[in-house]
Amino acid sequence: MPSERTEPLLDVRGVTVAFGGFKALTNLSLQVPPGHLRVLIGPNGAGKSTLLDTIIGKVRPDSGEVRFAGRVISRLPEHRVAGLGICRKFQAPGVLEGLTARENLLLAARRDKGVLSILRPPTPAEQTRADELLDLTGLTGRAAIPAAALAHGEKQWLEIGMVVAADPRLLLLDEPTAGMTAQETAQTAALIQTMAGRHTVLVIDHDMHFVDLLNAPVTVLHQGQVFREGDLATLRADPAVMEIYLGRPREAAHAQA
Ligand SMILES: Nc1ncnc2c1ncn2[C@@H]1O[C@H](COP(=O)(O)OP(=O)(O)OP(=O)(O)O)[C@@H](O)[C@H]1O
Ligand SMILES: [Mg+2]
Repeated sequence: MPSERTEPLLDVRGVTVAFGGFKALTNLSLQVPPGHLRVLIGPNGAGKSTLLDTIIGKVRPDSGEVRFAGRVISRLPEHRVAGLGICRKFQAPGVLEGLTARENLLLAARRDKGVLSILRPPTPAEQTRADELLDLTGLTGRAAIPAAALAHGEKQWLEIGMVVAADPRLLLLDEPTAGMTAQETAQTAALIQTMAGRHTVLVIDHDMHFVDLLNAPVTVLHQGQVFREGDLATLRADPAVMEIYLGRPREAAHAQA
């Protein structure tokens, strides 16, 4: 037996989450190896956001457990889970509108998060880190622009850069391309691919064109369970996968795009 099998960084084991009598997740298991990119899709109400809530410790599983780097985290409070290096980027942008893109990244790059730390000038290491993040997010040419004046997509990249500044081991992105143009969506896919490898990334999205660009293994959730796993081309050719989307014309249109 080969012994050097990579242990998953994220290991969701048989998780069930019930809201009242309704099971949002049923005996769900999902593993993501370190440095991998995984995409999560599924119709509305499939349980995608609930799964992320469970991973970050906001929702407690009724049974099963979530392991991170080999340790059970599903009984830890949310701030302890965050402290282990699990970051979730919400759809709502968290940038400070009055500061420039670079200033926002400088703030995010500060190791000491105390109220007074904002009063000291950034260290050379923090300056370097902010410039690296500008480069990563493609915002170098926009560094001196106040965040309020950035385009919607640029703001999203800035926010991803701010999350990455904390050097998360696991980055959870819930619909990062919502409201983006096709070109912004393509740039976001490239950004996420660059981040994977250094970080482990789990992305939820409805946009099949974006999922296609990510070119990563896909897990399909349906009614709180893993319905299929595989590459997008195989899933698209699977009539059962198409069928769970068919009641939803908008998504079916995306799926066939
Ligand atoms: N706090 C809650 N209380 C009761 N029911 C909830 C709660 N949160 C989610 N649900 C229900 O659980 C199911 C899964 O919801 P969830 O938000 O995880 O789906 P989703 O896959 O993220 O859907 P979408 O694609 O619309 O974002 C839905 O039926 C939802 O109504
Ligand atoms: Mg959701």
